[in-house]
Amino acid sequence: MSTADTTLGELTRKQLQNLCRVVGMDQAEPVRLLGEVMGAVHDRPLAQPPLWPSNIADDATPVEFSVQVTGSGRPSLRILAETLPADPGPVANLRAAKDLVARLAERYDLPLDRLRAVEDLFSPQDPQGRFSWWFSFIFDATGRPAFKVYFNPDVRGADRAPQVVEEAFRRLGLDHAYEGVREHALCREADRMTFFALDLDHSPQSRVKLYISQHDAGIDAVERAASAVPGIDRYQVGDFCRLLAPGTERFPGRPLVSSYSFVEGDREKPSNYSIYLPLRDYVPDDSVARDRVRDHLRDRLIDPALLDEVIDAITDRDLAARPGLLAHVSLRMSPDETGTTLYVSSEAYGGNPPRTAV
Ligand code: TRP
Repeated sequence: MSTADTTLGELTRKQLQNLCRVVGMDQAEPVRLLGEVMGAVHDRPLAQPPLWPSNIADDATPVEFSVQVTGSGRPSLRILAETLPADPGPVANLRAAKDLVARLAERYDLPLDRLRAVEDLFSPQDPQGRFSWWFSFIFDATGRPAFKVYFNPDVRGADRAPQVVEEAFRRLGLDHAYEGVREHALCREADRMTFFALDLDHSPQSRVKLYISQHDAGIDAVERAASAVPGIDRYQVGDFCRLLAPGTERFPGRPLVSSYSFVEGDREKPSNYSIYLPLRDYVPDDSVARDRVRDHLRDRLIDPALLDEVIDAITDRDLAARPGLLAHVSLRMSPDETGTTLYVSSEAYGGNPPRTAV
């Protein structure tokens, strides 16, 4: 899909336009936001190496697309992105993220009260870890965006993550949230908090979310994590893992990730649990990944044809060549609704390289 002088912005715009067509959504606003969040790397030719080792995707592409589907209703499209300045570095990247928030808040009239309540916790002078702030844009059927900001719990050093997250919950009026999470999903030594996220919108459904990477976990660990949410069937999480990674009892590669959402009124317990399975580490290649995801979609009464349309929107590469295109698959569970999200890599920089760090 690209030639020697294609830029990162051009390739990802084309992919996004194709995806908009697949989900039947107007592309003007998504394309504009993609261009804006890419910042300084938009016009960088793909022939040059990535300007910054973004951890959004394995190959350092600073954006990732995802498509969320439920049994009923139209699929919705999302973009996860790290915004990058011309002179990237931990301090400059955080500055660029804050500048982007300011521009978006003004244009879309975003409520920033919750972000203001916690932002100092996630903005140290000397940011640590792999990123400071990331963004996602979540589009409804008309192409109207909603915004989410992800903060890095390790930004003051991994040893301070528990204090930072506990304090952030407290400032948001969720005084007991951290305790519950600790009991269910931070009980193993290899459980680590990876993202603390806020929806930036006015609705009472606006979420506070915490993600935990459960390194080297077995299925029992994620079922236990799911049991923190009242009214959902934790065993669906095990079934999901067994279907996508048959025969895998323990996940020693990229970790299973658990997340919890808290919305207004959830003082004690989260109302939603999601499991994210990094499929690319548990399949020989993407043709196998495709077959398994098709089975999952069929089980959930979702037309599996959607998956091929999503894949074709991104790439025409041979799926059997390697894994990496289908990066994660997630199952979102609340008492009244279940949904699946497919995370697809742009592979702008060639796709999944060997894993280098934990
Ligand atoms: N690339 C990172 C990872 O795989 C971050 C990330 C991107 C991620 N999309 C994700 C993590 C979806 C969990 C779920 O960890």
